[in-house]
Amino acid sequence: MLRMEGVSKSFGGLEALKRVSFSIQEGRISGIIGPNGSGKTTLFNCITGLLPLTSGSIYFQETKISGLRADSIANMGIRRTFQAGKLIPSLTVLENVMCGLSQFTAVDGADTFLRPPFIRSKREAAIKKEAMEILVSVGMARSADRWASDLAWAERQFIQIVRAIVSKPRILLLDEPASGMAARETALVGELIKQIRDMGITVAVVSHDIKMLMEVAEWVTVLNFGEKIAEGAPPQIQKDPTVLEAYLGTES
Ligand SMILES: Nc1ncnc2c1ncn2[C@@H]1O[C@H](COP(=O)(O)OP(=O)(O)OP(=O)(O)O)[C@@H](O)[C@H]1O
Ligand SMILES: [Mg+2]
Repeated sequence: MLRMEGVSKSFGGLEALKRVSFSIQEGRISGIIGPNGSGKTTLFNCITGLLPLTSGSIYFQETKISGLRADSIANMGIRRTFQAGKLIPSLTVLENVMCGLSQFTAVDGADTFLRPPFIRSKREAAIKKEAMEILVSVGMARSADRWASDLAWAERQFIQIVRAIVSKPRILLLDEPASGMAARETALVGELIKQIRDMGITVAVVSHDIKMLMEVAEWVTVLNFGEKIAEGAPPQIQKDPTVLEAYLGTES
């Protein structure tokens, strides 16, 4: 579904990604692991068009997306969450989730201006309904009217994910969805990721939590100093000597 071919990204003299090639298969949960600074977030930034590649290409279903603008890539159905991403604190949970939809349902500027207000509010009602449905399906309906600023850290991380899936993307990139969470909350994130896969959304997840990642991912790619050093099914990765060596001495 998503194919990286010889992707390199340099920041001045620092090679954050070195000729990385791998694919993310449709319908599968793909995990990406690697020690701090190994290039995981940079890879997501390159896929989503936030950073231009230094060389190489990225394809989404045979369409070359590297070089396209970030909003065009997002409109193709590639969405992401950010490491320690933020909600809008002055909005409710439901309104934050609605934000994930409204940017994709606005057809164009003229449409927004020329529409009589009652049609706009009709559309808003439809957006609200969809956002509420997704909150119900992930078991967070009871939090709909709470202020985002009143949520605990783990709940915010959850809602960030929900906001990213409400537009029903084809592929969702999660950057450290369980960061700063206790074991019980991390397990819930793992469950949510599987639920998202079951909705028909392809998921790629970056996580320091190797235990959670090995439990949810069906395929794992390992980066180290910007290079792909291994890929395979979790049981293979867990006993791969190159991977074990890369992690020796790191607190991951
Ligand atoms: N915008 C940037 N400008 C300069 N250097 C950057 C930039 N973004 C990332 N880097 C560098 O590129 C390397 C890879 O960073 P990246 O954030 O992709 O790592 P990561 O694998 O996501 O790490 P972490 O596990 O800590 O989140 C690091 O050395 C980082 O300092
Ligand atoms: Mg990162």
